[in-house]
Amino acid sequence: MYNAFFGFKENPFNLSPDPVFLYRSPQHEEALASLTYGVKNRKGFIVLTGEVGTGKTTMLECLRDELQAEKIPFSFLFNTRLSTSQFFEMIAYDLGLNCPSDSKAQVLIALQQFLLQQASRGGTAALLVDEAHDLSWDLLEEIRMLGNLENRTGKLLQVVLSGQPELDRKLEAPNLRQLRQRIVLRCELRPFDEEQTAAYIQTRMAKAGMEEQTVFPPEVLSGIYRYTRGIPRVINILCDNLLLMAFALEQKEVNADMLREAAADMRLTPLLPA
Ligand SMILES: Nc1ncnc2c1ncn2[C@@H]1O[C@H](COP(=O)(O)OP(=O)(O)O)[C@@H](O)[C@H]1O
Ligand SMILES: [Mg+2]
Repeated sequence: MYNAFFGFKENPFNLSPDPVFLYRSPQHEEALASLTYGVKNRKGFIVLTGEVGTGKTTMLECLRDELQAEKIPFSFLFNTRLSTSQFFEMIAYDLGLNCPSDSKAQVLIALQQFLLQQASRGGTAALLVDEAHDLSWDLLEEIRMLGNLENRTGKLLQVVLSGQPELDRKLEAPNLRQLRQRIVLRCELRPFDEEQTAAYIQTRMAKAGMEEQTVFPPEVLSGIYRYTRGIPRVINILCDNLLLMAFALEQKEVNADMLREAAADMRLTPLLPA
């Protein structure tokens, strides 16, 4: 709506987890490097945790691009409320397994053959699970068993579990001790600090077409950090609302009053200044 007014090619604060808009904060950079390293080096289980809106799905989307570029086959589960049979159907479909996908036993046989074949060519395959904190105990158990498939050189299927911090607590359960012991890599996404928040906003504005952003002056950037506590999704919503407000007022710059009003509309309360 306001794109023409500000001269954007695209909406800078779109909520989709689009890797094109990636801001490489140190923790996102590190998480992506660990995920990629873990999959390529056949490390088995990798866990990514972070609060809602910190960029987990975005990281998985970036990993998906890397795997596609490297021609590593993968299955991407984003709906974790699946039954066991739906789960095996999804895997068979994603990996293009040639078997009756409604039979767990058939899928398992075909999967093992597929994985051994990949491994014999020096390759591997991955299972990416988003919203993994929502997985049922039954599915966690199935995933644990898939992650156990191995040949003498390493794990055949690399499993990335991504979820909210309660995933970590879930993995503490006694019945998951075996799975927990097999987690080789763990990464955590934390919210941005104040400086990263400003850099994040700058990066998104630049990607949208405003090379040096002039819409959010320094005191507003600092206020955005205090209201959003550096959580990317909340920053996006707040900034989008601010751009809309500035557009409605025909102002090219956001000021402290607009920030206060937009934050109040979103029921955000500021952190006290340090
Ligand atoms: N490092 C980042 N660079 C660019 N955008 C990001 C980054 N981290 C998060 N976002 C954005 O923040 C929003 C929430 O990210 P998302 O990956 O959906 O979080 P989560 O899956 O942890 O809830 C999305 O709009 C996403 O594009
Ligand atoms: Mg997500």
